[in-house]
Amino acid sequence: MTVLTSSFDALWQARYGLPLSEADLPHNAVLQSLLEHRSVRAFLPDALPAGALEAGVAAAQSASTSSNLQVWSVIAIRDPARRARFAELSGGQRHIEQAPLFLAWVLDLSRLRRLGDAREQATDGLDYLETFVVGSVDTALAAQNAAVAFESLGLGIVYIGGMRNHPEIVAEELGLPAGSLVLFGMCVGHPDPALPATVKPRLPQSVVLHHDRYGATDELQQCRAYDEQMQQAQSRQGRAVQPWSEAVVQRVAGPASLSGRDRLREAVAALGFELR
Ligand SMILES: Cc1cc2nc3c(=O)[nH]c(=O)nc-3n(C[C@H](O)[C@H](O)[C@H](O)COP(=O)(O)O)c2cc1C
Repeated sequence: MTVLTSSFDALWQARYGLPLSEADLPHNAVLQSLLEHRSVRAFLPDALPAGALEAGVAAAQSASTSSNLQVWSVIAIRDPARRARFAELSGGQRHIEQAPLFLAWVLDLSRLRRLGDAREQATDGLDYLETFVVGSVDTALAAQNAAVAFESLGLGIVYIGGMRNHPEIVAEELGLPAGSLVLFGMCVGHPDPALPATVKPRLPQSVVLHHDRYGATDELQQCRAYDEQMQQAQSRQGRAVQPWSEAVVQRVAGPASLSGRDRLREAVAALGFELR
């Protein structure tokens, strides 16, 4: 079931603040569902429809995976006490307690290590940064496919990078073996219609889409226009207005703005990743 709530033109307008000018732009139910994405942070307590988790995982496993290594795992957490604990570990994010399902997406090199050990074969390639990147990319692709699947069922999701605030404690609580790391969590549930999330505008395509060569001409001007669009969107929702450029630069200002994740390198080493 694909839930179509807005016209494609309205979604384009919400994303870019401009009417859709290219009349022949292709659109279909998949594109519609993708453009409808908004992170949901208010959920009803209702259980997920039967089979939704399995459908989401099938979508995740259908994503491309580097060399078919499939170096990820996902842990489905429904127990309210455990969700409350992960809410706390993620910096007090209440939506983790509220959503009936919380998924911990794991970059998982441990399985290949075990397979190598069982075959008495070397797996030293797992110790290189390259394989860590492969695992991170595969995990993200899988999770995003699941997100798209859940949204196509009318469910809402929000990713939780806060799961990297305390990687070793999270790994301990989930019983993760060495060589695995929770990259992020994901809340999944029925969006609360009383607190609807809205589509967030994105940068103009001219900023992110380059043709033949990279080019940043006009970038500052385009970003300023986007700041204004974001401010208008935020004030329509009665939310605090801070220019996007200011907020994102602040977010990367220094180690203190990384919510404790400035020590990720150390945490990753403690979890058994050499990153040679
Ligand atoms: C890897 C990742 C981690 C994120 N972590 C959090 C988080 O910890 N808490 C949260 O409320 N939103 C989190 N988000 C959601 C982003 O804030 C959100 O996607 C972004 O603001 C754009 O808004 P939209 O998804 O509604 O379009 C995360 C998103 C990604 C992709």
